[in-house]
Amino acid sequence: MPAQPALRDYLLTRRSVGIGFLQEPGPGAEELETLLKIATRVPDHGKIAPWRLVVYQADARREVGERLATIAAKRNPGMDAAGLEIERGRFLPAPLTIGVISAPQDHPKVPEFEQLLSAGNVAFNLLHGAHALGYGASWVTRWYAFDAEAAAMLGARDGERFAGFVHIGTPSAVIEDRPRPALEDVVTYWHSGAIG
Ligand SMILES: Cc1cc2nc3c(=O)[nH]c(=O)nc-3n(C[C@H](O)[C@H](O)[C@H](O)COP(=O)(O)O)c2cc1C
Repeated sequence: MPAQPALRDYLLTRRSVGIGFLQEPGPGAEELETLLKIATRVPDHGKIAPWRLVVYQADARREVGERLATIAAKRNPGMDAAGLEIERGRFLPAPLTIGVISAPQDHPKVPEFEQLLSAGNVAFNLLHGAHALGYGASWVTRWYAFDAEAAAMLGARDGERFAGFVHIGTPSAVIEDRPRPALEDVVTYWHSGAIG
């Protein structure tokens, strides 16, 4: 397999673009299909595809926002107009959001933990795919990933949960990188049973 210096450089500098900085234009229909192909090309023990994707685009983003605001108001009856407006805009301004659902299956050899990791890979590959096509992207969960009614409204079925939502669009600003962990803090080398 030949070395791919451009890919190496991309991986060494890759970073998310915050959801507030994602604007039009977003991927077109052909690019979306490419993105979905990249997203679903992930390690998957047992080849069971224990995940699903939900696409939110165009008018669906506003409709989702309205429904989130309704559920948020039920959870927090004192929510003011500004709070409701935040909920309405959850899937804005990014032109495209893709929800990644972990859909674990009973399997004799593949524990649920491994199936969850595979779903995480789908979300991360969406980031890579978006960047490969020249877009910015961000992977978030937020309250509605964990609220059963909201998650169902967003497309989760019984026994499923959201690994997150990947918001995709054209960056409106150059985003500074965030601090990265020092390797010595997160890497150990195993020597004859001792780590250090
Ligand atoms: C599963 C998961 C859920 C996340 N949820 C949120 C969130 O709800 N809100 C948020 O601000 N960041 C969230 N983040 C972090 C963002 O993705 C953050 O922008 C990211 O860590 C930036 O790192 P990067 O530049 O290496 O991509 C989440 C990350 C992961 C992996």
